[in-house]
Amino acid sequence: MPPDLVLRPELPSDDDAIETLYEVAFGPGRFARTAYRLRDGVPHDTGTSFVADRNGLVIGAIRQTRVRVGGVPAFLLGPLAVAETAAKQGIGRALLTRCIEASRDTEAVAIVLVGDPPFYGPSGFVQVWDEILMPGPVERHRLMALPLKGTVAGPLLADAW
Ligand SMILES: CC(C)(COP(=O)(O)OP(=O)(O)OC[C@H]1O[C@@H](n2cnc3c(N)ncnc32)[C@H](O)[C@@H]1OP(=O)(O)O)[C@@H](O)C(=O)NCCC(=O)NCCS
Repeated sequence: MPPDLVLRPELPSDDDAIETLYEVAFGPGRFARTAYRLRDGVPHDTGTSFVADRNGLVIGAIRQTRVRVGGVPAFLLGPLAVAETAAKQGIGRALLTRCIEASRDTEAVAIVLVGDPPFYGPSGFVQVWDEILMPGPVERHRLMALPLKGTVAGPLLADAW
C-alpha cells in the first residue's frame, strides 16, 4: 500500500466524499440492486466502515450494514470502491482486510456480499450459491460469504436488521 496513505474509521464529515466515490464507481443504478433493499433505511455500521485517506482526500471507502442471516447477526459488505486514479495499488484489498479484522471483534457470525469471486476469494470469501437467500434477484455466482464463527450452511434468509 502507498506509504502516504492512511486507513482510518469513517467520520460523518467523510459522507459527501464517500457518496461521490460510490456514484462514480457504481452509478445511480446502484440503489435498485437487491443489496440496497437490505441497506434501505438502515444506517451503515460505522464500527466496521473505513476510508483510505491520502492527505485529507478520501480515495477509497468500504462500508458494511448490519443484517440478519438465518435470524442471527451478520454483515452485508459494501459498497467498496477505490478512486480510478488510485486503482491497483493494493488499497481495495487493504480496506477489505481492515473491515474483516474489525468484523471479527463483533457478534456477527458472517460477512455476506454480492461481488466478484476473483477479488473476494483470496480474502477468504466463498461462493454460497443457494445457501443464502436474498430478498430479491442476485447473480447467484456472485453471492459470497465469509464465516466469522462456525460455518454458513443454509438455506438461510438474509434479512434487514
Ligand atoms: C474493485 C476495487 C475496489 C479494487 O480496488 P483496488 O484498490 O484497485 O484493488 P487492489 O489494488 O487492492 O487489487 C487487489 C487485487 O484484486 C484484483 N482486482 C481488482 N478488482 C478486481 C475485480 N473486480 N475482479 C477481480 N480481481 C480484481 C487486482 O488486479 C489485484 O490483483 P493482484 O493482487 O493479483 O495484482 C476497485 O477496482 C473499484 O472500486 N471498482 C469499482 C467498484 C467495484 O466494483 N467495487 C467492488 C464491488 S464487487
